[in-house]
Amino acid sequence: MKTAIIYATTHGTTEKVALKMKELAGSENTFLFNLKEGSPFDINAFDAIIVGGSVHAGMLQKRVKDFCKEHTLELLQKPLGLFLCGMNEPEYEAQMEKNFPEILRQHSTAMETLGGEFLFDKMNFFQKLIVKKISGISESMHKINDEKIHEFISGMKLINQN
Ligand SMILES: Cc1cc2nc3c(=O)[nH]c(=O)nc-3n(C[C@H](O)[C@H](O)[C@H](O)COP(=O)(O)O)c2cc1C
Repeated sequence: MKTAIIYATTHGTTEKVALKMKELAGSENTFLFNLKEGSPFDINAFDAIIVGGSVHAGMLQKRVKDFCKEHTLELLQKPLGLFLCGMNEPEYEAQMEKNFPEILRQHSTAMETLGGEFLFDKMNFFQKLIVKKISGISESMHKINDEKIHEFISGMKLINQN
């Protein structure tokens, strides 16, 4: 299965998760596309698609939302995985519902929030302030959920495709 992982990332955590997925699925047939780099590609050249991004103040990156909107019909024709990175566990389900369209959520083979990180060295003044205020945390924290990433890739039947 030739798989595309299409993502946006603010401080690099979603990219780390995408790389972990690529490692699990087999690097020869798995291709990463960072929406910020805008690399043009043809969805139809892939057998399975994974789309992900991270949540900031409840919102997924606009680039990911726009991608889902623009490519809904193509995404509905393939096995689809949807993932988020986030640190506010009680809100995981609500954030998923709010940020991915229902039609894609219903079609998806795997859909999960896979944890995240607070990287204080990469945050600007306001981001630090928001994180401290909302979560009470003022130091970097790493909570990428490797087990869930494995379950996600297994659920899509993509483990070790090389
Ligand atoms: C300013 C700020 C706001 C955030 N707001 C949320 C939030 O509303 N919900 C959540 O689950 N995580 C929130 N997070 C945690 C991020 O989703 C987490 O840091 C994630 O790993 C970022 O991934 P990225 O580096 O790929 O963008 C926030 C992080 C920052 C810095």
